[in-house]
Amino acid sequence: MSSSSVRAASEFTNPNLEPLFSAEQIQARIAEMGAEIAREYAGRNPLLVGVLKGACVFLSDLVRATDARLGLEFIAISSYGNSTRSSGEVRIVKDLDVPVEGRDILVVEDIVDTGLTLSYLLQTLHTRGARSVKLAALLDKWERREREVEIDYVGFRIPDAFVVGYGLDFAERYRNLPYVAVLKDPDAD
Ligand code: IMP
Ligand code: MG
Repeated sequence: MSSSSVRAASEFTNPNLEPLFSAEQIQARIAEMGAEIAREYAGRNPLLVGVLKGACVFLSDLVRATDARLGLEFIAISSYGNSTRSSGEVRIVKDLDVPVEGRDILVVEDIVDTGLTLSYLLQTLHTRGARSVKLAALLDKWERREREVEIDYVGFRIPDAFVVGYGLDFAERYRNLPYVAVLKDPDAD
């Protein structure tokens, strides 16, 4: 076998990845976010709504950092497909299993980019009669915003780059990285 045909043995140290936030940095920030959420929602039994699939890793760490009574739900929204740019089309692919009427909702998302997905989702939850709707996002790619979205709990603000890891994917790859990285070349293997 020639060396060029040998795949990198380690996915986590793939040379196409430029580390942005380490696992330790992410955990430290989530501990702060969880403490803040527990304080602000004390005695209110909020429903945390994770946006599949990207938010699942963040959500699983965030709830364990949030010492408060809460419920957990998931929703899936149509996203980029295999592209690195949003199509602007938003659609609920998997809906919630419970009504949100009268509930305090905290949407948990991996990243807010153009804001198209979140502005649609937050509006939908308001329309369904939620008592309050707030948003926690690990990453805020603020330079690319097309719709104004208020992020109540933000992990990190990042520049306009395509990032992967810690739940975020490129064509379903790299969700399992324990850290967040910039994908250097989308065309590289
Ligand atoms: P928005 O509607 O443009 O804000 O896009 C939000 C969704 O696009 C996120 O939930 C992600 O699934 C995806 N997305 C946006 N930017 C990135 C990125 O840099 N890496 C991976 N996924 C991204
Ligand atoms: Mg997402």
